[in-house]
Amino acid sequence: MRKIILRGLIYDIFIEPLLKSIKEWIARFIIQHDLFPALDICCGTGKQSHLIAKDRQDIFGLDLDFKMIQHASSKYPQIPFVCADAAHIPFQNKSMKAVVISYALHEKPLDLRIKILEEAKRLLSPEGKIIFVDFEKSWNRKSRLASLFISSIERMAGKEHYRNSRQFLKAGGLQALVKTNRLRPTERHDMELASSSIVVAEF
Ligand SMILES: C[S@@+](CC[C@H](N)C(=O)[O-])C[C@H]1O[C@@H](n2cnc3c(N)ncnc32)[C@H](O)[C@@H]1O
Repeated sequence: MRKIILRGLIYDIFIEPLLKSIKEWIARFIIQHDLFPALDICCGTGKQSHLIAKDRQDIFGLDLDFKMIQHASSKYPQIPFVCADAAHIPFQNKSMKAVVISYALHEKPLDLRIKILEEAKRLLSPEGKIIFVDFEKSWNRKSRLASLFISSIERMAGKEHYRNSRQFLKAGGLQALVKTNRLRPTERHDMELASSSIVVAEF
């Protein structure tokens, strides 16, 4: 039990600072476009939900890891966090105006990625937006250097995580995922120092 809560703390200390500006950008986007209710799928430590929430109640975080949900809830008690599988999300059809999936698809096997996307599609209202953040194939010198660093971190996350992550990049990264699933991108921001991009899309 302590080990898993420790994982939340380690994520807060070492990873969250690296993702700060990305999460702030996503929060600003959702707030400016008034995309509520919103759901952060695979929310981890809950930081993204917290940045989006400000004083609102209609933002939800969902994660399968109960200890991660406990960690998020203890930090942000005003936010409803749900412990559930992203392949079977307990919300109604068309109930969300925004769904965020941040650094959560690359580590999953292909069939689970597809199920999560199907769930996101089911949950979004017709004008809803899906906001992805994930790794891309490196495209210049800076992103190549970043991807070397990221690859060493991914290796530490375990064999299966690393294998799925390699497969994700081999298949073309986030850009290819959006294309193969026939999503319509409306905005994209490449981040060379993270070898990643943010993609806002519609189904
Ligand atoms: C790399 S973390 C990303 C966390 C967060 N989105 C971020 O950007 O910081 C991936 C998260 O996915 C969660 N997860 C893994 N499999 C899941 C599943 N089937 N359903 C829901 N969450 C899952 C893990 O518990 C973990 O918190």
